[in-house]
Amino acid sequence: MVVLSQSQASIVLQTKNTHLVLTVGNNHRLYQSYLGARLTSPGDLEKLSGGREVYLTGGMENQFEPAIRMVHADGNPSLELEYASHTTEQKENVSYINIILKDPVYPVKVQLQYRGYFNEDVITCNATIQHHEKKPVRLTQYASSLLHFNAGTYWLTQFHGDWAREANMVDEQLTNGIKNIESKLGTRTNFYQTPAFFLSLDKPATETSGELIAGTLGWTGNFQFTFEIDQRNQLRLRSGINPFASDYTLNPGELFTTPEFIFTYSNQGKGQASRNLHRWARNYAVLDGKSPRLTLLNNWEATYFNFNETKLIELFDGAKQLGVDLFLLDDGWFGNTFPRDSDKAGLGDWQENKSKLPNGIGRLVAEATKRGIKFGIWLEPEMVNPKSDLYQQHPDWILRLPNRAVHLARNQLVLDLTNPKVQDFVFSIVDGLLTKNLGVAFIKWDCNRSMTNAYSAYLKEKQSHLFIEYTRCLYKVLDRIRARYPHLPIMLCSGGGGRTDYGALKYFTEFWPSDNTDGLERIFIQWGYSYFFPANTMAAHITSMGKGQSLKFRTDVAMAGKLGYDIRVNEFTPQELQFSQEAVTTYKRINDVIWQGDLYRIISPYEENRAVTMYVNDKKSKAILFNYILNVRRKDIFTRVQLQGLDAQKKYRFKEINLFPGTKANNPDNDKVFTGDYLMTVGLNLTPGKVLSLTSNVYEITEE
Ligand code: GLA
Repeated sequence: MVVLSQSQASIVLQTKNTHLVLTVGNNHRLYQSYLGARLTSPGDLEKLSGGREVYLTGGMENQFEPAIRMVHADGNPSLELEYASHTTEQKENVSYINIILKDPVYPVKVQLQYRGYFNEDVITCNATIQHHEKKPVRLTQYASSLLHFNAGTYWLTQFHGDWAREANMVDEQLTNGIKNIESKLGTRTNFYQTPAFFLSLDKPATETSGELIAGTLGWTGNFQFTFEIDQRNQLRLRSGINPFASDYTLNPGELFTTPEFIFTYSNQGKGQASRNLHRWARNYAVLDGKSPRLTLLNNWEATYFNFNETKLIELFDGAKQLGVDLFLLDDGWFGNTFPRDSDKAGLGDWQENKSKLPNGIGRLVAEATKRGIKFGIWLEPEMVNPKSDLYQQHPDWILRLPNRAVHLARNQLVLDLTNPKVQDFVFSIVDGLLTKNLGVAFIKWDCNRSMTNAYSAYLKEKQSHLFIEYTRCLYKVLDRIRARYPHLPIMLCSGGGGRTDYGALKYFTEFWPSDNTDGLERIFIQWGYSYFFPANTMAAHITSMGKGQSLKFRTDVAMAGKLGYDIRVNEFTPQELQFSQEAVTTYKRINDVIWQGDLYRIISPYEENRAVTMYVNDKKSKAILFNYILNVRRKDIFTRVQLQGLDAQKKYRFKEINLFPGTKANNPDNDKVFTGDYLMTVGLNLTPGKVLSLTSNVYEITEE
């Protein structure tokens, strides 16, 4: 279990395979003396000293990026932090270390909080800043953490994108100077950059080799990761809220708590790092991470805004035929003065549209219940269209700049969530809906624009608090919702993957990775997110997007996440319907392995014109393998695939599942028994015969 050194000179955070060692120097400053693979001999830990300062301040002798910069009430722009005390505590798998640092001259205190998750090898850290000066101080930098590295070369893997092309992976070598990965988008904050990265030391890490840390920030707002290599080739990694346009005036006694920086260290490549984060996420970070998820049929791509009660009830029949758990009603069900018949009107007026739904949501819930399925509904409660009653009734509830024309995006504006009345409004929309319609069993919470017009009538002279306060207030509302509805499944959507972070996922059961549901594109998008998020959080729907792709291919791609449909079931051929019904049944049988199992990314679509992944359960008694062929070219030669994560000593049956009606497995190894050793050492040919573009297989690998 976790071992914590209580000595004042050395503060040790230990997980199964990692040590983080901090020491106090003779000058009373706190140093990061070691971060890396766990040292096995306790004597070695005692030898560690020195290093680089843990929470470097601005204004003193440090001339590189500081973790914290404060301008005191008297105008002095410097801060010095000395170690004052620390406490350690251990509760089962989690160890807690709190370290107090104080300025020797000014009454300023910073508490650094570390948590070590022993079995998952995950460490989180953040800071709480406080002062007791006579007047407010100004914070211009307030990192969650600063970590130091000392390697020959540094390699960064980042994930960037845009609407319908999220989470594209890019690797690069870092050179001297600063590289920032950040967002200034406020809401829908992760639209262009995913708030997660790998930093590899000395050489680019692969899936199975190399030393790296994987890091991410639990914050649903502007974030920033700064990688700075100094003149001695040492790298400091600063993580936290992006201080852009966000100087923070901190009152005496007030606490400023930064979000958690979450990281895992691995010396066995990216695959291990992902598995660590997935386990941590399921155990600690995602709402109900160990509980089952609901399969569903969504109507967005099937109808867009064009539906009525009869049409929806017909779609319920489709959901029932498929055998999914839930029907999800998307955008377009509300607004009367300004009906929501397109994205131009209605946002903010969350009453059922009387002509589309004359009998209200209640009738829909009742009809769904009659068919033995649950009912869920879409909301975008932080937003407003100028064409809405809400806009006319509460102009002061909306973010917009004085003396400037409003800047619309998707014809909408952002509500001022820093205003407690707006928080009450958003809470009451959700609460009212759930109280009035007791059967509502699922919500899709959308957020379809980023934050421009960044001015809050409520915050008055504290405009530079807006970005930070907005996110804090979003959490306040979500806290209220969760206090009353602790387990209601809620999908987090933001025009696709505009909100994907662990600050949000403690309130949500899943997220929508992209509006792009083309199977080929989704292989890459899901691949990107899979580095940091487990499969049970990644909603993956089968839709009619994807030219030239069979239903089988699209289904096999969606099965690797949390499967759903967004399609007109009544347009299926009888064979397609039979296939989909069987696919849902199969998925329900195997989804525990996908949702809770360890992920092994075996062949990357970034390296070959195919992708192979495997999920393996804890006992290593069952695995599911996905084999996707992309757009093959004549030059492509696909070699044997060595499986991973199995028990070498066990025997496994290798069997293709999810076959399309009327087709047979074409792999000569199908339904044969192999040792785990053979599968992992010799491997299998997953592409026998002629290889066709955009085809796929799912194999179930079961201990005999
Ligand atoms: C966003 C979402 C979609 C859908 C529409 C509805 O684009 O990402 O899934 O809900 O809004 O307007």
